[in-house]
Parts: sequence; structure tokens; C-alpha cells
Amino acid sequence: MKPTISPSILNSDIGDLRGQLRLISGADVAHVDVMDNHFVPNLTWGLPVVEACVRADVLPVDAHLMIEDPDRWAPAYAEAGCASVTFHAEAAAAPIRLAREIRRLGARAGLGLRPATDIAPYAGLLGEFDMILVMTVEPGFGGQRFLEPMLEKVRRTRAAISASGLQISVQVDGGVSRETIERAAEAGADNFVAGSAVFRAEDAAAEVDALRALAGR
Ligand code: DX5
Ligand code: ZN
Repeated sequence: MKPTISPSILNSDIGDLRGQLRLISGADVAHVDVMDNHFVPNLTWGLPVVEACVRADVLPVDAHLMIEDPDRWAPAYAEAGCASVTFHAEAAAAPIRLAREIRRLGARAGLGLRPATDIAPYAGLLGEFDMILVMTVEPGFGGQRFLEPMLEKVRRTRAAISASGLQISVQVDGGVSRETIERAAEAGADNFVAGSAVFRAEDAAAEVDALRALAGR
């Protein structure tokens, strides 16, 4: 599978949102983290900022909803024109209904798993999703260390997808850098979120290219 590079704008200079998106225009999608200070102990932004990212029309927008009650809020992100909307398995009351609603509204549906959440209980639901997000840090903040034990979960997730015969992306998010991306790709990830690796690099565009080269096995 061709690697998808998804820079997270969490720690970018969001006062210049359009400029930051242009900086990473060589990437495949822009990963936008929505946090509500309930599901995670941090607060970012909501629909208006995500809509601004869509309107900027630089890259397709991948919304990562780290929020409680995604059943109520996630469809609006699909309606806003996000290319993909990922909600967390731990937060959704009715994940099947919600995934179907997101797809009906024209976005790809993603299922997010915190580090302590296993893929096994969701293996039967794979057909409802276009992407499984294996968090490789505890969600909430950028700049954390990649959790090596998550490679095993990436492997098991990729194996479950292969067994199902479906075409589903495995996204990794957290601590993805030049040091970790090859191992994640080898384990079966094909979609790589990188926040600080890209936006703290001297040359963000070059960093995107470097990550892509390392991920393309
Ligand atoms: C963390 C967010 C990530 C974050 C990743 O909860 O979901 O998308 O921006 O940042 P890095 O790449 O710095 O770990
Ligand atoms: Zn994220």
C-alpha cells in the first residue's frame, strides 16, 4: 500500500493556518486534532477551525476527534467536507450507526483505539470502517515518545484486516518520526500522522518527503 503522510497541525503556528497548510502541501492529508478536555486532558478547537482547514482547500482534511459523545458531534465534521472522520471506540455509544452516518455524509470513517484498547472486540466491525487508528501515545498531546508495544497491535490490526479481505488503512499517531516510521510501516501501518517531527523540523516540506521515503518500503 502506498504510504499516506498526514502531518498533524496540533503544534503548528495556527495563527497562520493557511500558511501552515501550504507548508505541508506535499503531504497527502492534513490531520486535525479536536480535543474537548473531557475525553483527553487538553482542549484544542472545534468545527469552525476544521471548516477553515477544509475551506483553505490545500489538502484533504483528516479529523481526529478526541471527544466524548462523538455520536452527537462527528457527523457535522463529515458534513463540513472532511475527507475522513475518526472517532474513538472508547467514546462512541453506537459505533456502527455512527460509522454508517459518516460514510453516508461522504467521508471515510475511522475508528480510533487508545493504547489500552485492543482491536479484537472490533474485528467483526472492520467492514464499517475505512481506517483504524492505532494510537502510539496516550492521546492528548504532541511531542510524546512512541510506545513500542503498540507495534504488536499494529501487526494484529493488519492481520485482522488481511483476514477480512477488506482494503482498510492502518493509521499510527503519536511519536512518529524518522526514528520510528520504518518500524511502524514494517508492522503494517500505511498512514502516518506526524506532528512535531514535521512542524519542529527546520524544513517541514523536506521532512514530509523524508518520512515518505522511509515509509515506502
Ligand atoms: C495526540 C494527537 C496527535 C499529535 C501527534 O493526541 O492525536 O495527532 O499531534 O503529535 P506528535 O507527532 O508530536 O506525537
Ligand atoms: Zn491525532
